[in-house]
Amino acid sequence: MERVQKVIANSGYCSRRAAEQLITEGKVKINGIVVKELGTKVSKKDVVMVNGKTITKEEKVYYVLYKPEGYVSTTNDEFERNKVTDLVPSEKRVYPVGRLDYDTSGVLLMTNDGEFTNFMTSPKHKVEKEYRVKMKGFLRKEESLLLSRGVKIEGYITKKAIIKDVEYNKKNETSFATIIIKEGKYHQVKKMFEAVNHPVLKLKRVRFGVITLDNLKTGEVRKLKPYEIKQLKEITKEVK
Ligand code: URA
Repeated sequence: MERVQKVIANSGYCSRRAAEQLITEGKVKINGIVVKELGTKVSKKDVVMVNGKTITKEEKVYYVLYKPEGYVSTTNDEFERNKVTDLVPSEKRVYPVGRLDYDTSGVLLMTNDGEFTNFMTSPKHKVEKEYRVKMKGFLRKEESLLLSRGVKIEGYITKKAIIKDVEYNKKNETSFATIIIKEGKYHQVKKMFEAVNHPVLKLKRVRFGVITLDNLKTGEVRKLKPYEIKQLKEITKEVK
């Protein structure tokens, strides 16, 4: 049994909030009877109608986008900046799976499957996220070690991470490193490098679970293959 507003939103008809509004306005019928109670639950056998139209379950779609810098991951932005949703040529309403900062580029999954999104972004289902980082200064071995063991960011100690492929640009006094984390705290990577006094200059997510950028160019999008979706779902099953 699911709340009727969730069923309406999952069908792609409108957002959950808009569905709640429709319910309170008396525009929703369950098995031919108007319901105005927001808590009303329905089963798969119930027929839900909105404004006289029967709601059917929407087919789920999954994409990977090579997010360019200069795009927000939110669906509406008060500053009217470019949105990642504008880059996905889907008739269905798709949302990003988690977020990348405005100035971060790289792998961003997009879907209309809310359950999948919750699973992939839940801290319980330790999905690996791999980033290539350009930072100020030379990242020393001891600092890499600190980062891999856990650093304090705003009172929180980060979990184990992998740091590899460190390179230096002596002329510019910058370093590059790859970091793999299984968490997704707000601005986590930037804060981690900030904690060891190496402000991040550029950040790119090169992998999310089994999904990499492959042959995608910045701003390009492709549908995930059924086996990729399966593999992603399997990661989340492995964790108890
Ligand atoms: N960590 C960050 O700091 N920013 C991102 O966009 C992703 C991870």
